[in-house]
Amino acid sequence: MVEVGLDEHRSMRGLKGKVAVITGAGSGLGAATLHRLSEEGSITVGLDLVPAPDETRAASWHQVDVSNEDSVAAAMKAVIAEHNRIDVLATFAGVAGGGPVHSLASQEWNRVLAVNLTGTFLCCKHALVPMVEQESGAIITVASVEGIEGTEGGSVYNAAKGGVVLLTKNMAIDYARRNIRVNAVCPGFVETPMFDAVMGSSGMADYRDEYRNQHQIGRFGHPSEVAAATAFLASEDASFITGHALVVDGGYTAGMRTGLSDLLGLS
Ligand SMILES: NC(=O)c1ccc[n+]([C@@H]2O[C@H](COP(=O)([O-])OP(=O)(O)OC[C@H]3O[C@@H](n4cnc5c(N)ncnc54)[C@H](O)[C@@H]3O)[C@@H](O)[C@H]2O)c1
Repeated sequence: MVEVGLDEHRSMRGLKGKVAVITGAGSGLGAATLHRLSEEGSITVGLDLVPAPDETRAASWHQVDVSNEDSVAAAMKAVIAEHNRIDVLATFAGVAGGGPVHSLASQEWNRVLAVNLTGTFLCCKHALVPMVEQESGAIITVASVEGIEGTEGGSVYNAAKGGVVLLTKNMAIDYARRNIRVNAVCPGFVETPMFDAVMGSSGMADYRDEYRNQHQIGRFGHPSEVAAATAFLASEDASFITGHALVVDGGYTAGMRTGLSDLLGLS
């Protein structure tokens, strides 16, 4: 595994002092993003089903179910009461799930859509209210390479993430003239507790190498790499970028690899 750490000299423009709300901040990619934005000097607020982890750098924390509108609305109101504004929203709260459509229980369809798509909508909705008022903001939604192309058995997960990509583009259009940028990050497979749970489920271990090989770089991602892309999209360095779905995927979606590159002397 390549170590991708934070370089203390690196910083992105316009993140210092910004109030950044990160959902799913209790684990994996959301936790790494909260850490990165804190390093950049942002005032970070964690939202998650779970309580704040001991080591979090969040300025404040709210236990929230993103699929429940009352819960989300109350949390966003509390953030405004505490910090007066919301400058950045990054929506990492999400669940894995899916299965072939002919045998997919409707409850499973509803569960995954409720968190991954409706949860994204609800968090954006209630963060956009203060952003529209203050006429500024940056939203980074979290889709996936599985929101751009299909995967075996993906079904509802891919449908939800594909929905996130188009919701993102629509919000980019609707709010651009209010000085609010909206972009998505689309990670490849990144080693987090969710990844471990999926790869650890029955039979999946046999396919782990195949999944790794789909990433042209030849390895899975590190949470800090998704955090860096998210911080970039939140920052003034991305001031002319809106409506974009940024793959952070080590070449997963670049195209097919057959091994011909060995013949070309590129192995
Ligand atoms: N890890 C990957 O390979 C990968 C790849 C592409 C996209 N993603 C997406 O990135 C996001 C983060 O994934 P991760 O790998 O860090 O997962 P994770 O399971 O490590 O973290 C997800 C967090 O979301 C929280 N959460 C779940 N349901 C919630 C709810 N209803 N309300 C509030 N919080 C809730 C969990 O408590 C957890 O802290 C997800 O949206 C996931 O779909 C992950």
